[in-house]
Amino acid sequence: MLQTTPFLLVLFLALGAHSLSVKKCSLTGRWVNDLGSNMTITSVNANGGFAGSYHTAVTATSNEIKVSPLQGSMQKSPNQKGQPTFGFTVNWSFSDSITVFTGQCFVDDYGKEILKTMWLLRSRVENIKNDWKATRVGTNEFTRLQSQE
Ligand code: BTN
Repeated sequence: MLQTTPFLLVLFLALGAHSLSVKKCSLTGRWVNDLGSNMTITSVNANGGFAGSYHTAVTATSNEIKVSPLQGSMQKSPNQKGQPTFGFTVNWSFSDSITVFTGQCFVDDYGKEILKTMWLLRSRVENIKNDWKATRVGTNEFTRLQSQE
């Protein structure tokens, strides 16, 4: 008993120190994706809700691209262990389309934050006969934009 107590104490301290040093992934801030699109998430509230803006680098339309609002939700359960899942919707201000993204905020082996996402882009079509061609699917990877200070 006397020998096991110091061992347990060291183990407890080691586990505590490890959990303190593990970097967590935060959605707040400015991000750029593999297409060159920019996204800003202003803050995440206590319930995991968040909002921000999205400046896409590309469009499926011939319209002039404009910055568009986004609204999302992040999982807050303890099981997320600093790498939370999330979803957000971009309501395009320059087209009739909507995109939903779903993904996870990861910290890689070098401590770099990466958002791995999948998206569905729903375009408006003139009638139900064209519904079959209204939805595009894809993936995007976002990395944090380094501030230019
Ligand atoms: C539209 O073309 O109607 C709106 C712009 C859609 C841009 C798409 S959303 C998925 C993909 N990821 C981006 O960053 N941009 C494109």
